[in-house]
Amino acid sequence: MIKRLWAKLGKSSLPKADSLAPENIPLHVAIIMDGNGRWAKKRGLPRVAGHRSGMKTVKRITIAANRLGIKYLTMYAFSTENWKRPKDEVDFLMKLPQQFLEIELDELIKNNVQVRMMGTREKLPSHTVSALEEAIKKTENNTGLVLNFALNYGSRLEMLEAVKEIAKDVQQGHLSVAEIDETVMSRNLLSCELPDPDLLIRTSGELRLSNFMLWQLAYSELWFTDVYWPEFTEKHLYEAIQEYQRRARRYGGL
Ligand code: IPE
Ligand code: IPE
Ligand code: MG
Repeated sequence: MIKRLWAKLGKSSLPKADSLAPENIPLHVAIIMDGNGRWAKKRGLPRVAGHRSGMKTVKRITIAANRLGIKYLTMYAFSTENWKRPKDEVDFLMKLPQQFLEIELDELIKNNVQVRMMGTREKLPSHTVSALEEAIKKTENNTGLVLNFALNYGSRLEMLEAVKEIAKDVQQGHLSVAEIDETVMSRNLLSCELPDPDLLIRTSGELRLSNFMLWQLAYSELWFTDVYWPEFTEKHLYEAIQEYQRRARRYGGL
């Protein structure tokens, strides 16, 4: 009864950071930040208001993840398929990294965060790339959490490019067909400097991967929530990790 009342008040049974086992914090958490548009619609606001609000969530969750000792945080910010959206929305999304970094870079630096990017730079506007390049450069010597933005990222394109690179290596005699193994494939992906995600979170109730890290997520634990990205809080992150800590990762063994 009291618990139900508590949940109604929003104080809920969501866990606290100190209820998590510190020795079993996922090394790499990947997030499909979804539901910005629906969050805005629900409030009678334009879709872009959802993206603006989602930007604040990125900052909060980055700081919380860093505090927990998560080492890599990959955030799916724009897919290779998102170019299909109306031009106004795409233009707005392309300005967000710049805005985000203008407001948050100092605090990220204070928190020892390293910014990185995973995606195809070619199609992106130069102002988007230069803002990110500047943040990457300014934070390259930081040793805390790696905040990896998946921007203009698509897993199938990434794998096709990797296959082409490997084929070239074979053609030029640097590699034999027999030598092509998982390590060679991983090394040729955009995520080559990161371990595979331990935990994937997707917000907004959609139960799909939407072309995100298909190779790398082979053995990741998946966690879905109905909460829209702008309303995702530290507590939801703790809840996801608490659930992760309850899972037995068998990798096909016993
Ligand atoms: C996620 O929110 C942000 C991006 C995909 C860029 P959406 O914009 O997909 O929001 P919904 O799914 O339409 O609610
Ligand atoms: C996935 O969300 C891409 C990002 C979160 C950047 P979408 O909203 O594009 O995915 P679908 O279209 O619902 O599959
Ligand atoms: Mg969506």
